[in-house]
Amino acid sequence: MHTQDIITTAKALVAEGKGIIAMDESNATCNKRFAVLGIPQTEEARRTYRELIVSTPGLNECISGAILCDETIRQKKNDGTPFAKAIADCGIILGIKVDGGTKDMEGYPGEKITEGLDGLSDRLMEYSKMGARFAKWRAVFVIGDSIPSDGCIMANAIALAQYASLCQHVGLVPIVEPEVLMNGDHNMHRCLAETDKVLQKVFNQLKLQRVILEGIILKPNMVLPGLDSHRQETIEEVADATVKCLLRNVPAEVPGIAFLSGGQPSVLASARLNAMNAQFKSRLPWELTFSFSRAIQQPALDIWQGKESQVVAAQQTLYHRALCNSAARSGKYIAEMEKA
Ligand code: G3H
Repeated sequence: MHTQDIITTAKALVAEGKGIIAMDESNATCNKRFAVLGIPQTEEARRTYRELIVSTPGLNECISGAILCDETIRQKKNDGTPFAKAIADCGIILGIKVDGGTKDMEGYPGEKITEGLDGLSDRLMEYSKMGARFAKWRAVFVIGDSIPSDGCIMANAIALAQYASLCQHVGLVPIVEPEVLMNGDHNMHRCLAETDKVLQKVFNQLKLQRVILEGIILKPNMVLPGLDSHRQETIEEVADATVKCLLRNVPAEVPGIAFLSGGQPSVLASARLNAMNAQFKSRLPWELTFSFSRAIQQPALDIWQGKESQVVAAQQTLYHRALCNSAARSGKYIAEMEKA
């Protein structure tokens, strides 16, 4: 066990003013996003796009860690530098997604289970030798008629805890990501109740499996109304419900909570994170930060569109979003920043 190392890495991931960039979309997801913009869905296009991200000037001012997928961690920049080295050289901590994706859960219609525990120890050791210092595993929960079920929540919570324990044994900080999805017409109170249930079971399992809570990062959803809910709560109401839920369920030993964006518009995600820190930061036992993929990358991807001539503008946009989210870490994000 590498207790002190993992605690130090976990703290560094949630350092003041910093958050994590998730650039670990599976090839299929990345291709889907490229297809919408007419970008070729090739390994080389994905490599070029990831090079654009890691070469963004100043990114390390706001970004503590970057989560890669298996394809990217094995790729190199145009000049031959492995991405793993390029990221470490600019002071960003290297992370890797290690789950095998979600599949329909047998016997649980409409629900998903995350795969990937088979052979995980060996893969973690390989990634650690490649320079990774943290990992990510995502479980998803759909809100619908009588779901998420206790069985689905429990199965995913057990897998998350087993993954977290294996990570810590090889010295990697596990990012524990239980995501209650935004899809649906449920209201925010339903999301609050389901997120409560999920977090409670996840932390029960983490404790049962003797995971060192000081050496994990929790990556949850914000507590939000469903995308199709007729009532969309204010930024302050979302901040209030989310913090209330986290205070009820996340032990004080956990150093930080890094939200996923889940498909929220970029500006709204920054504003909601900002409201939580502006209203509650001084009273919280853990750091509240971001581990966004879409909410930090999408505006840059929209500008890039696969064109070399657009790289600089896309990087400036990515840097700008990182800066806005960095300000939201301390409640200092203001709408005027969007005009910059
Ligand atoms: O696992 C999901 C990503 O790490 C977060 O993605 O911010 O687009 O929800 P998102």
